[in-house]
Amino acid sequence: MPCVVVVGGFFGDEGKGKIIAYLARQYNPMIAARGGVGPNAGHTFVLNGKTYKVRMLPSAALNDSTRLLLGPGVLINPQILLDEIRNFEAQDRVFVDSTCGIINNDHIEKDNAEYPKTRLGTTGTGTGPANSDRALRTLRIAKEVPELFEYIEDVSNAINYSLDKKERVIIEGTQGTFLSLYHGEYPFVTSKDVTSSAVCSDVGVGPKRIDEVLLVFKSYVTRVGQGPLKNEIDNDEARKRGWTEYGSVTGRQRRAAPFDMDLALRSIRLNSATQLALTKLDVAFPSCKGSDIVDRSTSLNMHII
Ligand code: IMP
Ligand code: MG
Repeated sequence: MPCVVVVGGFFGDEGKGKIIAYLARQYNPMIAARGGVGPNAGHTFVLNGKTYKVRMLPSAALNDSTRLLLGPGVLINPQILLDEIRNFEAQDRVFVDSTCGIINNDHIEKDNAEYPKTRLGTTGTGTGPANSDRALRTLRIAKEVPELFEYIEDVSNAINYSLDKKERVIIEGTQGTFLSLYHGEYPFVTSKDVTSSAVCSDVGVGPKRIDEVLLVFKSYVTRVGQGPLKNEIDNDEARKRGWTEYGSVTGRQRRAAPFDMDLALRSIRLNSATQLALTKLDVAFPSCKGSDIVDRSTSLNMHII
């Protein structure tokens, strides 16, 4: 800290939500700001045996004293956002940039057509068509939506002001490095860049203000939708290894492969990572379950979660 950006190292679903929720409770940041694409993401975290999922709010949502911001690069589905604000009773601490793009039913319909839904395997949540309208400059933005009026804020200003005061800020990415429109295997990618630089731009923070880039890997690789996956194993083998997972937004079974060191090294470079988090070590190596480890960079006693 004080300003850490958290991004996914592979194809999303590395466990960013869990890591961010953990950091939020450890460090009590003043602000958690979400970058990334939009409600195509699903972040899951568990507290006291209860499972929470967010698609629009930052994963620091359970921390009552953290202000939850959505940067101008993030696409909003107003219905999903308003439901989450209500569920987390976060009316007083959610802020949305006035220029966040707005997803409508037409975008969702287009995203569920043969191409891109079947051929690319998109989530069907309307994010690609909405970003396409944004590039055409026909997309509606948050300040045009009366239901969002009370949440509007200048997100870049709010974060930079907080950093001037040396307050702690978490910037949350979504998806994963190799789903980036530029750095993944086109066309099997999402509708914008999702590496650390892009996530900072999404919330309006320049590269020199970032103290740590925390890159999250899972101990094996998963991918949903189409596109290459090196050393992919079949469903039976995945079940044997306990690597069977289902997408939190679409419910689709995730494809699985062993940890890919070449991909990880490329991801570290693309994001200029300063810290790594590795999730599900106990799934890949059951003997690790419950072990304590020490994160030497921060002298933090960490528990494998
Ligand atoms: P889109 O982002 O819905 O356009 O989907 C493009 C590709 O990114 C598809 O392969 C999706 O499965 C994948 N994708 C998008 N969001 C996520 C995510 O949050 N986790 C994992 N995969 C995702
Ligand atoms: Mg996910």
